[in-house]
Amino acid sequence: MKSTTAFVLVAAAAVLAGAAIPLDRGAFAATGVGGGSGLGPVTGAAAEGRKLWLKLNCSGCHGAHDEGGMGPSIHHEADDVAEAVLQGKGEGMPAYSGRVTRAQLAYLSAYLRSIDTAGEPRFTHWWEATPSR
Ligand code: HEC
Repeated sequence: MKSTTAFVLVAAAAVLAGAAIPLDRGAFAATGVGGGSGLGPVTGAAAEGRKLWLKLNCSGCHGAHDEGGMGPSIHHEADDVAEAVLQGKGEGMPAYSGRVTRAQLAYLSAYLRSIDTAGEPRFTHWWEATPSR
């Protein structure tokens, strides 16, 4: 009798574990955080740019996903961010000179280019080494 109970428990655990896998994949695919693949952690240049977007608070003025806010939506000029970011612009855009590297500017461009594509990283936990959401 005892062994039957144990078998049922193991079988139930296997079913639950099996059910959890497609559920996770579905969640990744739905939010597009898999960097386009729909699976696994978020990596690559666009993801690095997304981290900077949140960490340097570009999101605070240009919107969480560059939808615009106190600052304009800028992803249509993704290839041309360096000058404005380094020197600042107008009244509201602060200068980041000395706070961002060339490589980081390239990451920001990669992130901005990914917006509205299947590979757009949309995570909000930028402090995770490999953000999963
Ligand atoms: C304090 C608010 C604020 C923050 C933070 C901010 N921006 Fe801006 N940004 C603005 C405003 C306002 C403008 C429009 C300036 C103007 O044209 O007068 C702007 C303009 C820009 C432009 C130029 C757009 C154009 O039309 O030429 C780029 C590129 C840009 N921001 C990128 C960034 C990036 C990348 C970050 C993060 C590293 C960032 N901004 C952080 C407010 C902000």
